[in-house]
Amino acid sequence: MSVTLEADKKLISEDVVAYLAAHEKKSMLRFITCGSVDDGKSTLIGRLLYDSKLLYDDQVSALERDTKKHGTQGDKIDFALLVDGLAAERELGITIDVAYRYGSTEKRKFIVADTPGHEQYTRNMATGASTADLAVILVDARRGVLTQTRRHSYIVSLLGIRNVVIAINKMDLVDYSEDRFNEIEAEYRAFAKDLGFESIVCIPMSALEGDNITTKSANTRWHNGPALLPYLETVKVRGTLTEKPFRMPVQWVNRPNLDFRGFSGTVATGTIKPGDEIVVLPAAKRSKVKTIITMDGELAEASPDMAVTITLEDEIDISRGDIICAGNAPAEQSDQFAAHLLWMAEDELFPGRQYLLKTANRIVPVTVTELKHKVNVNTLEHMSGKTLELNEVGFCNLNLAHPIAFDPYTENRRTGSFILIDRRTNSTIGAGLIDFSLRRAKNVHWQDLDVNKEVRASVKHQRPCVLWFTGLSGSGKSTVANLVEKRLHDMGRHTYTLDGDNVRHGLNKDLGFTDADRVENIRRVGETSKLMVDAGLIVLVSFISPFQSERRMARELLNDGEFVEVFISTPLEVCEQRDVKGLYARARRGEIKNFTGIDSDYEAPTAAELNLNTADIPAEDAATSIVEYLQENGYLNV
Ligand code: ADX
Repeated sequence: MSVTLEADKKLISEDVVAYLAAHEKKSMLRFITCGSVDDGKSTLIGRLLYDSKLLYDDQVSALERDTKKHGTQGDKIDFALLVDGLAAERELGITIDVAYRYGSTEKRKFIVADTPGHEQYTRNMATGASTADLAVILVDARRGVLTQTRRHSYIVSLLGIRNVVIAINKMDLVDYSEDRFNEIEAEYRAFAKDLGFESIVCIPMSALEGDNITTKSANTRWHNGPALLPYLETVKVRGTLTEKPFRMPVQWVNRPNLDFRGFSGTVATGTIKPGDEIVVLPAAKRSKVKTIITMDGELAEASPDMAVTITLEDEIDISRGDIICAGNAPAEQSDQFAAHLLWMAEDELFPGRQYLLKTANRIVPVTVTELKHKVNVNTLEHMSGKTLELNEVGFCNLNLAHPIAFDPYTENRRTGSFILIDRRTNSTIGAGLIDFSLRRAKNVHWQDLDVNKEVRASVKHQRPCVLWFTGLSGSGKSTVANLVEKRLHDMGRHTYTLDGDNVRHGLNKDLGFTDADRVENIRRVGETSKLMVDAGLIVLVSFISPFQSERRMARELLNDGEFVEVFISTPLEVCEQRDVKGLYARARRGEIKNFTGIDSDYEAPTAAELNLNTADIPAEDAATSIVEYLQENGYLNV
């Protein structure tokens, strides 16, 4: 929405260039509104947009028309209709997580992030808050500070907002009582003292009646503070993107001919001028900026959100995904972090599962190594927990496959945040804020040994590998694995079998059968089998291993050809009929919970090296196929 005020209209008709120049110079405030429809949020936003003439003329006439048709406010304009129009779009199945409204007054430009106020939508709020400079948190004067007020305040502070306005609304319903206002203000300030806000401004208002929205109201003469809009027009917010150290992720290296080499990207934070010293991470190479080029020619300075191409004084090697930083204030680099994680997926977080971590410039495999605590966003209490569920916030340790350049989130929101992606579905499942780097593993080096895998394998005359048997309980995994191991042993090969039932008596005896425990079960077995391959052995792993993600992880721990997935695809009906251990019958009676195939998932492999169904062939034949596979593919004849 672009907006024209009366004065603007005049200037536009007389001098468009002067108008545009004046508009460009206006500062910008991004803010988010938090609260529910019951608190009067829609009415407040509607009123703000209307009273400050932030609306298009056609929106106003539509609003007056709708008010007559659907309004609940008699002849008065029902401002909520303006905003609730979005709710209708939502019902039509158009997903609007955050609605951004643009406006401007004579003094300032605004971007308002409006998020659905339902309790569960922590994630939408976080999305809106991550780019906002200020939050307007609504409180109903009759109800005071609620759980929801605390939740909104916590998320807003977590996402780095340092200035809040507490809009104590519906003052008309408490007779504009100064005492009530003071009571709520005192309660809020006591709660928020540890949230790190730089400013908290409480304003008594009635969005419905228009008190203290654009001008101070005669109904609250006792209020010494400002009305909302004049405050938003003048409040100073620190820490804008421009004031941060320079950061630009390189999106591509622009090399049209041998004489030109430029690095293109969008400036994330800070400013840069020709002559400025820079350092490029991760290589930590230094140089100076020669020129800054755009579609419209050379620039004297580049600032956040500008797409530019930078050329340097020196020929240094830079590739896509590197980050160009201010020479005197480079980003940090690490592969281990402590971070706050906001979980956004229906499926819970599994510590130990491999996800992808995406920052401004890189995508790197990552695992959550430890969930230190969860935060009860209603009370701010820390709670212990094994996993995070939808909309929960936790403080975690992360382990990345490669180091990345970053800044702590409190110092730089753009280079200190990331999202997590599910490797299988490619969907965003979490958002994270980096707190600090963990340096504990820095002094653990990879020890190069003279007797290595190749040496150990060659004296055994075999190519080490993992035969990974996966399938339902009772499918025949252990039976077939046992037969294969006996035959290999008879052939003089060196083997070892890791079997679920056995390993769960020792190494993994702390684990049960929840999804989270199975993820950890397989992670440990994957790592163990990798060590055994390094020892030169042919390792037989016989675990249900129901999830594709962990089987993939186990595969990726090894070199190409070292992981042979053997899917024992005996159908559930057959396994259940055999019921060797009597477990299916007990699971059906509800005596065992989370039993694979009954009330816990099994994700069948889609590209296993071997697929054997022991309902169709005897276990001996299955074993023969596997030994033949090893012979034909050169594992045994070294
Ligand atoms: S996995 O899913 O984590 O890979 P694993 O192979 O270690 O499972 O253990 C499976 C064995 O544990 C089964 O063969 C069965 O004997 C036993 N078991 C006990 N409870 C369960 C259960 N709820 N689901 C599956 N197997 C179970």
